[in-house]
This record gives sequence, structure tokens and C-alpha cells, in this order.
Amino acid sequence: MEIRPTTDQDFDVFVDTLLAPFGLFRDAPTEDGGPWWAALEMDRNLLAVTADGRPVGTAGAYSFELTLPGEILAPAAGVTAVGVLPSHRRQGVLTAMMRHQLTDLRARGEFLSVLLASEAVIYRRFGYGPATYTSRLTVPRHRAALALPRARGTAGSPVAVPDVVPDPGSIELMRRADCGELLEEVYDRYRRTQPGALSRPHRWWASGAGQPPVARAPRYVAVHRDADGVPDGYLSYVADAPKTLTVDETVAADDAVFTALARFVLGHDLVTEVVFKHVPPGHPLRWQLADFRAGQVTNDTDWLWVRLLDIPRALTARGWFMDGELVLDVDDPFLGEHGRYLLTVQDGKADCVPTDREPDLSLDVSDLGSVYLGGTAPSTLVRAGHIRAHRAGAAALADALFGAERPPHCLHWF
Ligand SMILES: CC(C)(COP(=O)(O)OP(=O)(O)OC[C@H]1O[C@@H](n2cnc3c(N)ncnc32)[C@H](O)[C@@H]1OP(=O)(O)O)[C@@H](O)C(=O)NCCC(=O)NCCS
Repeated sequence: MEIRPTTDQDFDVFVDTLLAPFGLFRDAPTEDGGPWWAALEMDRNLLAVTADGRPVGTAGAYSFELTLPGEILAPAAGVTAVGVLPSHRRQGVLTAMMRHQLTDLRARGEFLSVLLASEAVIYRRFGYGPATYTSRLTVPRHRAALALPRARGTAGSPVAVPDVVPDPGSIELMRRADCGELLEEVYDRYRRTQPGALSRPHRWWASGAGQPPVARAPRYVAVHRDADGVPDGYLSYVADAPKTLTVDETVAADDAVFTALARFVLGHDLVTEVVFKHVPPGHPLRWQLADFRAGQVTNDTDWLWVRLLDIPRALTARGWFMDGELVLDVDDPFLGEHGRYLLTVQDGKADCVPTDREPDLSLDVSDLGSVYLGGTAPSTLVRAGHIRAHRAGAAALADALFGAERPPHCLHWF
């Protein structure tokens, strides 16, 4: 079997080979908008071909920018289009493609690779670890009142009555088809400040590749503008009155904008519940509901998986929020590598050099991927038996050190 790079000429055979493992057909009608494979970058993809010339497996990569803690933008390969024909599964085709791809990515000078996993059991063996998480928040409309304390009561004065802080901005209701480049601009500003967010290259929006609101499927879009009229958030939704209003994604410059958009849909007449897809776990909206139990969290799952291809480069690239020093002993069995690094953080910047000092933590490269964006506490992985802590306090120090300014979150589907 040969693994070979593809070109534009391979597009048809690549897409047909890719769709078969998913049981899909290319000519099946898609939701209004381009099919998701319209965004494929054919100069980054691989095709596995048998000795007699039959294509049996595919793997691809997109060129994204990933926002690291500290609002640092880093190039990241977005691994995608992974499939092996059902007739050739469990014969090592994926393993061969992953090895080829990781080598390729390194040769291109890339130091981070990310993916969304169809199944959580596939990619850890290749060095990927879950790094951002997502959940679905369902709020019945009759229990949707928000209660934001206006001010804390002082001794001798009455405690402030829960109230909703007035929004100095405004919301305009638009249709997806009429939003033009507005969504692209608002998303792009948002993703630059949100750890774990990915860029959505222009060709995605232009071809409508992906899921709504990137796809131009019929949707209502609530666009939020600040007091000066500048768009600073949006929420795209579809309402299936009289039952459910489903929000595809909410993009907001800050929490107040998110609240204003949430209040807008929670006040929608003629629906019994509002479902917010893709809310980061622990989102403050749940705490803003007057009735804490009104918000039901479901579909709590992994989203973006991260793989470090160059550990010192990746660790020095992100921003850090406290000083500290850790010795990390990292195993990378898939690539047959092992390294011990002294990570020293001072004034928001890290230095990472090989060392032979005794380790504080021993971990697999997939676990380093999990903690890298600050969305997984190293102590959780110590308690799970994934990471070994060699001295008291090492896990707590790692928790504090790896933490981000806010939980990483990725909305982009690819
Ligand atoms: C997932 C898929 C790509 C795996 O390809 P493959 O060629 O069968 O994988 P390999 O033979 O290289 O398997 C490597 C190892 O992973 C394991 N593995 C692979 N896919 C697995 C799965 N879905 N569930 C459990 N284990 C899996 C294999 O058992 C093997 O383990 P071993 O090394 O201990 O023997 C293929 O089954 C497929 O196309 N599935 C449907 C489409 C899909 O889910 N694509 C992934 C999109 S993110």
C-alpha cells in the first residue's frame, strides 16, 4: 500500500473514497449552501492506494489559526477527511496515514495539529488528547427568567432586588442569506480573543462549507450591536414553533453581549424551549437563570483534540499567567520519541529546554495536548492515572500554571 499526496486532479476520487466510510453519497442533497468538502485543501491531503491501484483511505488537513491562551495566534493543521473503506478497515491503513501525515506536518514546520474525533477511541494512540469541551444547554421558556443581581446590599440597606442589567446596545433580526460578510467579520474578531477558537478561512464562508451559520442554510440571525452601532455578536437559530428554538452558535465579544443575545431568544414567543448548542461547560448563562435548575446540560462532550508536534515550540508559543517551573517527562510512543523538558515561566513567557533534572510530572504527549490550552486540569489526569506526579504540589502547580484566562472553547466544525 502506498500513501501519496493529492492534487486538485484527485478531488473526485478523494471525495468519493472519503464519503464511502461514512455511508454518504456525493450527490445527496445538502442543506442550502455548499457541501462541507468544498473547503478541502487538495495540496494537503493524502490518499492510501493499494498495490493494484485502488484508493482505500483518505486523510486531509486544513490550514487554520488556533488561538492560544494569552490571545496568541498560532498556525495549526486541522486534520480532517479521515476515512478508510469498510472493506479495508483494521488493517493498519489509518495508522500508516497518520504516521505519514505527522511526518509531513513537521516537514512543513508545523508544531500543532488539531482535529474533531468521530469516535473518542481513535486518536489518543496517535498522540492527540481532548482539549476543549462543549455541551448543550436547554432552557424551558416558562423558567427562563434571568436574575442578575444589580448590586450587593450594604449593612442597614435593603439587598438589591434581582434585576436584569439594561443592554446599552441593540439587536437586529436578519436572515442568514442577507448577512453577507457581517458574520465573517464578527466571528473573526471574536476568535482572536477566545482561547481554543479556530479561524474560519474566507473560502469556508464564501463556499458555505460546514455547518450553519457558515453554511448558508435558512436561519434567523440576531445581530448584536454595541452602543455605537458596531456589530459585536450574533446568534443564529431556527425555530420549530410551537416547540423548540435551536441556536446553532452564539458568538459574543464579551459575556454581556452573550447575555443580551440569550435574553433575546429566551423571550421568543410561541416556543416552549430554547436549546443552545455549543455552550462551553460551566458557562455563566446557567448562573444567570433565576432558577438554576431550569438549565439542563446535555451532550457534554469533547470537541477539539490537540497534538503537539514540537513540544518546546508549542509551550513557548502560548501565553502564561503566573510564574513557575516544572520538569515534564514526555513520552511519544507513536513517534517513538521521549523527552524531558524544563519549563520555566516568567512574566507571561515560557522557556522550555531539555534537561536531565528529576521530573515533576511524567506524561504522554496526548495528555500534554489535553492540558495545553488550559481546558483540562493536569490534576484531573493525575487522579485518572494518566499523569504521574513525582512530588507533592506538582499537580496543583501544573493546574495553576497551565490555566488560561478563560476556558478554551471551539465553535468551528470541520
Ligand atoms: C476510524 C477509521 C479511520 C480507522 O481506520 P483503520 O484503517 O481501520 O485503523 P487502523 O487499522 O490503522 O487501526 C489502528 C488501531 O486503532 C484501532 N481503531 C481504529 N478505529 C477504531 C474505532 N473506530 N474504534 C475502536 N478502535 C479503533 C484499531 O483497532 C487499531 O488498534 P490496534 O493498533 O490495537 O490493533 C475507519 O474505521 C473509518 O473510516 N471509520 C469511519 C469513518 C470515521 O469515523 N472516520 C474518522 C473521522 S474523525
